[in-house]
Amino acid sequence: MNKGRATLGEMFGGHIEVASQGAWVTTAEGRRFLNCGGYGVFLTGARHPTVIRHVAEQLNTHPVATRLFLEPQAALAAEALVSVAPPGLRRVHFAGSGAEAVETAIKLGRTQGRHRLVATENGYHGKTMGALSLTGSSVFQAPFQPLLPETTHVRYGDATALEAVLAESPGECCVFVEPVQGEAGVVIPPAGYLRSVQELCRTYGAFLVLDEIQTGLGRLGTWWGADPEGICPDVMLVGKGLSGGVVPVSAVVATEEAFSVFDRDPYLHTSTFSGAPLAMAAAQGAIAAMKEEDLVGRARELGDELLPELRRIVRGHYGDTVREVRGRGLLLGIEFAEPGPAGDLLIELIMQGVIANHSLNSHLVLRLTPPAVLSRSDVDFLYEAFDRACRAQAVRYTPTAGSGRNNA
Ligand SMILES: Cc1ncc(COP(=O)(O)O)c(C=O)c1O
Repeated sequence: MNKGRATLGEMFGGHIEVASQGAWVTTAEGRRFLNCGGYGVFLTGARHPTVIRHVAEQLNTHPVATRLFLEPQAALAAEALVSVAPPGLRRVHFAGSGAEAVETAIKLGRTQGRHRLVATENGYHGKTMGALSLTGSSVFQAPFQPLLPETTHVRYGDATALEAVLAESPGECCVFVEPVQGEAGVVIPPAGYLRSVQELCRTYGAFLVLDEIQTGLGRLGTWWGADPEGICPDVMLVGKGLSGGVVPVSAVVATEEAFSVFDRDPYLHTSTFSGAPLAMAAAQGAIAAMKEEDLVGRARELGDELLPELRRIVRGHYGDTVREVRGRGLLLGIEFAEPGPAGDLLIELIMQGVIANHSLNSHLVLRLTPPAVLSRSDVDFLYEAFDRACRAQAVRYTPTAGSGRNNA
């Protein structure tokens, strides 16, 4: 398929994953790994029984629809999503991937006359042509230029920089922002930033798209990254966890006004598998599982426990080589002061039985996105694996490194 992919697979130990359950992934050789990676997909863990029940029932009755008749699962999934979405967001369009949801939002913005795209430096929105225009990475963009015109990137967390751009083109801008930047390396904006972004968008007549594909559905320990500042965008994007880790699905949740063009012409923006019943069952199952087990609250509690303890372990071994250990809920990042250690620690963690992630737009940050279904023994396993991995690797960067947890 792709030689580079094969090389990466070798680099990460040459393991071949064949099964998963809850927080654990099993390889062809029977080794088990605690899955704290998966790029943010597995908040409910793998094969959560509630998601599997919804999907299995649908698989055995009507997995893909004709698209000519009405079909109930799409409406039920939309209803479930609106029931947990910020107030005011009442209309839903389903897609398959996060990037497709981003494309939909770009198109909705254009129908409102907002043709100038504004996104943030190092932000990540996917790799289809429109989404890639917003993704703030010259590495990913360069081979595919020219991308969409009239696109500007402003510094993340800097409302003044955003205002300067919006003020130049009142009524013409469509702003894409993540509540916490995931792929940039878990970058948390200053308190009040999202509220300022919303106010600026209102002042200058900009269309606001909140990309919650990575942060949404409980990942940050709240249903949405928007919640702590109580903001309501024109459009919110959902993906990753909506799949329940079982069937890929994403969604665009919009205000009535932002959505209105789709009401006028249902053929304007379609895709063969959009709203397929099997994916709709997964979305319902994921939301039901989160409500039944209060996985949002669990994500918050677990995050509150994991962050200080991981910080203690990592700092104990790496000292000043680690710049910051930060996070919100179960989106955690370990930022190093130089490029080498994040990658080395990722590989060492795999050797110690833990899957984590690098960050697509930062070489400095190791990222953890554990599921909210971690048990006490899973958490202890994570700490011990982290301690062993840091002990093995930190000496390369800090020759005087101490003995970690007890030393921290
Ligand atoms: C914030 C954000 N938006 C969009 C995307 C793109 O989603 P997908 O990879 O499903 O196309 C991602 C993926 O990591 C993301 O983190």
